[in-house]
Amino acid sequence: MIVGVGIDMIKIEKMKKAIQKWKDGFLSRVFNKEEIENIYQGKMYYQRLGARFAAKEAVIKAISKEHPLALTDILILNKENGAPYCTFKKDIDVKIFLSITHIEDYAVACAVAEKKS
Ligand SMILES: CC(C)(COP(=O)(O)OP(=O)(O)OC[C@H]1O[C@@H](n2cnc3c(N)ncnc32)[C@H](O)[C@@H]1OP(=O)(O)O)[C@@H](O)C(=O)NCCC(=O)NCCS
Repeated sequence: MIVGVGIDMIKIEKMKKAIQKWKDGFLSRVFNKEEIENIYQGKMYYQRLGARFAAKEAVIKAISKEHPLALTDILILNKENGAPYCTFKKDIDVKIFLSITHIEDYAVACAVAEKKS
């Protein structure tokens, strides 16, 4: 059963400024080690970070009523074919369907939450 939907949009410049100002402190408050390793330091680095930040916010919007979550409880990674997916660091009875997109200045993510049982 679908139990929630969430969407979020990030301005890349804002993400870039936060990372430049707070450096690893910002990254570790928002992202897990696996997520940072998944995003190479290269082309589209800030866009891909922004997209994952948006994805986490979208997931929180989709399920926060039932499951209070910190950003680092949520793990956004990519399948071999490039498609993003979401898992949790906590035991949560919800499957997330996720889609993300990014252009130069913005990143957007949409999450649909389905209760597993
Ligand atoms: C996957 C695809 C849809 C991505 O679209 P895009 O406009 O290049 O890029 P977007 O910014 O909208 O989306 C990028 C995100 O799509 C997601 N994505 C990548 N592969 C995906 C897939 N197989 N399924 C779902 N999502 C996918 C990723 O999360 C990616 O972001 P990330 O690399 O930061 O994780 C596109 O590359 C594609 O394969 N299109 C098929 C049609 C085609 O081949 N066109 C080119 C010939 S004209």
